Formats: sequence, C-alpha cells, structure tokens
Amino acid sequence: MKIGIIGGTGGMGKGFAIRWCQNHDVMIGSREATKADEAAKEYASLASKEYGSFKGKIIGKDNLAVAKESDVLVLSIPYENIDAICSQLLPNTKDECVVISPIVPLTKTDAGFEFISFKDKKPSAFELVQKYMRNKSNLVSAFHTISEKKLLDPKLVLDSDIFVCGDNDSSINIVNELIKEIKNLRPILLGPGSLSYLAETATPILLNAMIKNKMKNPGIKII
Ligand SMILES: NC(=O)c1ccc[n+]([C@@H]2O[C@H](COP(=O)([O-])OP(=O)(O)OC[C@H]3O[C@@H](n4cnc5c(N)ncnc54)[C@H](OP(=O)(O)O)[C@@H]3O)[C@@H](O)[C@H]2O)c1
Repeated sequence: MKIGIIGGTGGMGKGFAIRWCQNHDVMIGSREATKADEAAKEYASLASKEYGSFKGKIIGKDNLAVAKESDVLVLSIPYENIDAICSQLLPNTKDECVVISPIVPLTKTDAGFEFISFKDKKPSAFELVQKYMRNKSNLVSAFHTISEKKLLDPKLVLDSDIFVCGDNDSSINIVNELIKEIKNLRPILLGPGSLSYLAETATPILLNAMIKNKMKNPGIKII
C-alpha cells in the first residue's frame, strides 16, 4: 500500500512516515518537491538508524504527484489551508483512495487554545475536506489527539486511544489497521463523519490541560 502525506514536511508527517515505513512505501508531499525530497531523505536516515532495515521506501514529491499516486492519503496540513490544498488535490486522487484527516480547527487566544468551529461558527475539518472529495465516503478522521512529539519517537510506548469517524466501513477498517500498526495505539470508533467535530475538539482540551497543569504531551485513553 502506498501512503501519501500531504504536508509531510511538518511534525505530524514526520511521525507518520517514521512509523508506517516499517510496512509501507511512504510518499512525503510538499508544495515544493525539493523540500519533500530533503525531508524524505532525513526521515529515511532516521528510520535506518532506528530500525536497521525497514520494508517500505520513503520518497518525496510535490503534493499533486503524491495525491495522484496514493492508496491512502493523509492530509497533514493546517485547517486554514484546507480550501486551497484540497480543491487542487482531491479531484486528482484514485477512485478508491482513502483520505485521512487529522486536522484540528485550532487557534490560540488570550484564554488558551480554542476550537475555531465553535468560536467562529465554521465547519469542522471533516466537513470542510469532504466538500472536495469525489467519493465522499472514503474520508476518515483520526489521529487528532496524538502529539507529534510522541509519534515521531518509535521508542516511546504510546498507550493511547485514537478516535475514528467516518461513513464507510471498509475505509474505516483500513485506517483502523494503520492505527494498530503503531504499537499500543487503539482505534476507538466514535461514529459517522458528522460527529468528527467531537474528536477534533478533544485537541484544544488536551492542549489547555497540558499547559495549565504542566503535563507533557498528554493523550486520551478510555478506561
Ligand atoms: N502537531 C501535533 O502534535 C498535532 C496533533 C494532532 C493533530 N494535528 C493536526 O495535524 C495537522 C498537521 O499538523 P502539523 O503540526 O504537522 O502541521 P504544520 O507543521 O503546521 O504544517 C504541516 C505542513 O503543512 C504545509 N503548510 C503549511 N502552511 C501551508 C499553507 N499556507 N498552505 C499550504 N500548505 C501549508 C507545510 O508543508 P510544505 O511547506 O512542505 O508544503 C507544513 O510542513 C494539523 O491540521 C494539526 O491540527 C497536529
């Protein structure tokens, strides 16, 4: 399976690449192909140091090439850029491509971290991305509450739950398997994409708890 990561040069993209290259080919996407190539080389070198050898290849390409070639496409970009990026890329994906959104509508104010969708009455990240999907049921939202710091260190025991929302069972199953490939992460289905805002809002809750209580990269575990 070819996994593409749009905005793969950011912290989350690095974490996904380091984890999933153990079993899959990973394509790092960027607005600039050379930046993607440099990031891919850096991640491949980190993965070699970590694992010795690993099954997949990590390569870098511009975002459009990544969108066209991926079987699973992760949108690892800020909420503010969904319209610009998704309108260009999502019409070009393969018919069966499963799209993952870890995107959180988040802003920092004097009060702390706030959820843009509530504060400014804007759509959830899921709703905004889905507008641009050709096959709307192939969108799954997940990974909102795992910190990039934890994701990109394969030595860390994560022991966290990952909320999953989507409208199509086979797409959800593919994402669940990718979650389970990351040791000690557990997928927790919340419901259809229309409930994704519930998962997305967990991130500002965690970030405020982290800062106010001096916690280090907290996650969520249902007990
Ligand atoms: N960081 C976390 O711990 C965390 C945890 C859970 C969920 N999330 C969510 O996951 C997503 C990715 O997080 P991140 O921290 O990796 O994001 P990021 O570092 O802020 O951005 C990721 C990539 O998006 C691209 N990008 C930045 N500005 C852009 C623009 N104006 N137009 C188009 N592309 C732009 C950049 O890639 P190029 O410059 O190479 O194109 C950048 O490397 C976000 O939606 C975030 O809310 C993050």
